[in-house]
Amino acid sequence: MGRRWTALVILALMTAAFGAEGGVSQTKHNFSSPTQSPNAFFWGTRQVCVFCHAVHNADPTVGQLWNHETNQAQPYTMYTSPTMDMTMASTPHNGSLICLSCHDGTIAINSLSNLPGPEGAGNYGTPGGGALDGSGRLSSTSDAYVGTDLSNDHPVGITYDSSKDPDFVPKTGNSAAYPDKLLYQGMYVECTSCHNPHDDTYSNFLVESNDGSALCQRCHQK
Ligand code: HEC
Ligand code: HEC
Ligand code: HEC
Ligand code: HEC
Repeated sequence: MGRRWTALVILALMTAAFGAEGGVSQTKHNFSSPTQSPNAFFWGTRQVCVFCHAVHNADPTVGQLWNHETNQAQPYTMYTSPTMDMTMASTPHNGSLICLSCHDGTIAINSLSNLPGPEGAGNYGTPGGGALDGSGRLSSTSDAYVGTDLSNDHPVGITYDSSKDPDFVPKTGNSAAYPDKLLYQGMYVECTSCHNPHDDTYSNFLVESNDGSALCQRCHQK
């Protein structure tokens, strides 16, 4: 498929997924709304999706029509543990880098590849709210700040391989079944394994309820 067709298909998906309901607009990820996101918003902005996606001139190295500047230097400190059996990459994959592009605190939330209109790359709007510093980056005092040190976070960048550890739910090879459906590209544990950036139904943007640690047990047999 050409880029134009890919863009049209994704636009159609966007309309289907977000036509009727509030979706991401009703969450803290609506950075054009001081009501929805009082700690982190931008004055003079009207758009919601633009902070993460663009229909044209998005970043092709990331996919999903990604429009937010990513941290190319990737100086992340990964989780380490003597009891891990699976392979961990030296940096997170895109399923985490897209989140970290805001949550590591190194890049302004409004630093985009393609601004609305013909302007090209730049910063969109003027920062407001206590979770942002003066240049629009997530402040290290914010609850949402993850930073570049991931050694104290659930490991990401892992190739899920249940054959290496009986304490894990076996991989099925079926992308519609657990645990595969939680894995980025059907393979990796990344931020998007546990979080859905569009939907805050279960709070903390979780993909599903973690009552009784149900989410943990989609992968862990403990
Ligand atoms: C805060 C960032 C953020 C905002 C704002 C955002 N998205 Fe997304 N979107 C993402 C991320 C991250 C992914 C990749 C999710 C994954 O791989 O699980 C994604 C994926 C998608 C996808 C493809 C996969 C899917 O879930 O269907 C579509 C379509 C989409 N977004 C539409 C939208 C639309 C429409 C809006 C505005 C109403 C929007 N997004 C706002 C972060 C965002
Ligand atoms: C465009 C920047 C941006 C992207 C991309 C982004 N976030 Fe956020 N996120 C924020 C900001 C800013 C907040 C709100 C902070 C606040 O209100 O204090 C937030 C809030 C959150 C919260 C709620 C924290 C709380 O205090 O309630 C979670 C959880 C979260 N994001 C996870 C993710 C994950 C996981 C991804 C990737 C799938 C992602 N975000 C992508 C900027 C972003
Ligand atoms: C294995 C599942 C899992 C993975 C992977 C994961 N998270 Fe979370 N995250 C959670 C859960 C569960 C919570 C809620 C924690 C709570 O209620 O105390 C959470 C909470 C958060 C919060 C809210 C603030 C906080 O610390 O409680 C942010 C922000 C966040 N995650 C971002 C991320 C980012 C960015 C990544 C990728 C680098 C990531 N998460 C990877 C499960 C996960
Ligand atoms: C998408 C699958 C998945 C989900 C969901 C998940 N995990 Fe994990 N978790 C993993 C994988 C894979 C590892 C690395 C295992 C290894 O290499 O042996 C891991 C590692 C861990 C470790 C570190 C183990 C060590 O040896 O240091 C802990 C603790 C952990 N997870 C707790 C949790 C909790 C708590 C939850 C629920 C909030 C959760 N996990 C949800 C897949 C998942």
